[in-house]
Amino acid sequence: MQIIEDPKLLRSEIKKRKQQGAQVSFIPTMGNLHQGHLTLVKEGQQHAEVTVVSIFVNPMQFNNANDLANYPKTLAEDCAQLEQAGVDIVFIPTVDAIYPNGLEAQTFVEVPGISDQLEGELRPGHFRGVSTIVTKLFNLVQPDFACFGKKDFQQLAVIKQMVSDLAMPINIIPVETVREASGLAMSSRNNKLSADEKLLAPKIAEVMTELGKKIQLNVKNCSQLVTEASLTLDNSGFKTDEIHVVDPITLAPLNEGSKQAVILMAAFLGSTRLIDNVVVNLHQ
Ligand code: PAJ
Repeated sequence: MQIIEDPKLLRSEIKKRKQQGAQVSFIPTMGNLHQGHLTLVKEGQQHAEVTVVSIFVNPMQFNNANDLANYPKTLAEDCAQLEQAGVDIVFIPTVDAIYPNGLEAQTFVEVPGISDQLEGELRPGHFRGVSTIVTKLFNLVQPDFACFGKKDFQQLAVIKQMVSDLAMPINIIPVETVREASGLAMSSRNNKLSADEKLLAPKIAEVMTELGKKIQLNVKNCSQLVTEASLTLDNSGFKTDEIHVVDPITLAPLNEGSKQAVILMAAFLGSTRLIDNVVVNLHQ
């Protein structure tokens, strides 16, 4: 496995492999890798001969300096896991290499609409940061395929829209959320939970699955069902932050013709904000 820091070197390595006829799969990450990330890697390996993973904690997508400073860094363990998984190239650029003129002077990419609602409304500029770094990484890696987790449902929707709007010649591969045996969606944030919180955490997936079944049968009663689910979570020790039930492609409100819905949930357990989502077919 090659570990590359320099964007120029990355370009020349990729060029070499492409000249040999290889296709490239790409998995962008911010490190602190877990089984969710490794499942993306496995998926990528199914599609192309060469797999590239990037590890870059992207300052442009953080709106809180503390969150950025405290983002867990486990580079040595990450590289060991990627080597074990058979990854070909790990790209670990410095902030200076990616943003040589600083964040303020950087050209940005923004997907309107989807980026401003839901998580985007809570974290202004977050999705602009994501679409800008993903574009830049796409331009450096020039992948044929790129894998993204459904765990970050809105991020995936933003990336798909961006690739379509800007005619980027890349196949976006969505990957199912990887969960613990308890049902809890894997996340770097789970490491922040105390032992007691960890026991309680799977409840968010449980409440979400139940809510999905109820909405499927009675979408007209959606807002009442959402209120009940939020109360159930609050009574179990969470502090519900948001529950949205929207169209899975546009993330706009449902209408009478909607065939599917996605339930997007966010709830605090202590100071940790957990997110999860599920897509359900509607019988209306
Ligand atoms: P990060 O949070 O490191 O996630 C990298 C990728 O792993 C994302 O596509 C995310 O959806 C996926 N992922 C995380 N947990 C998962 C799980 N339990 N099951 C399946 N996939 C999971 O998302 C980012 O980094 C950044 O925003 C990035 C796209 C790298 C841009 O900076």
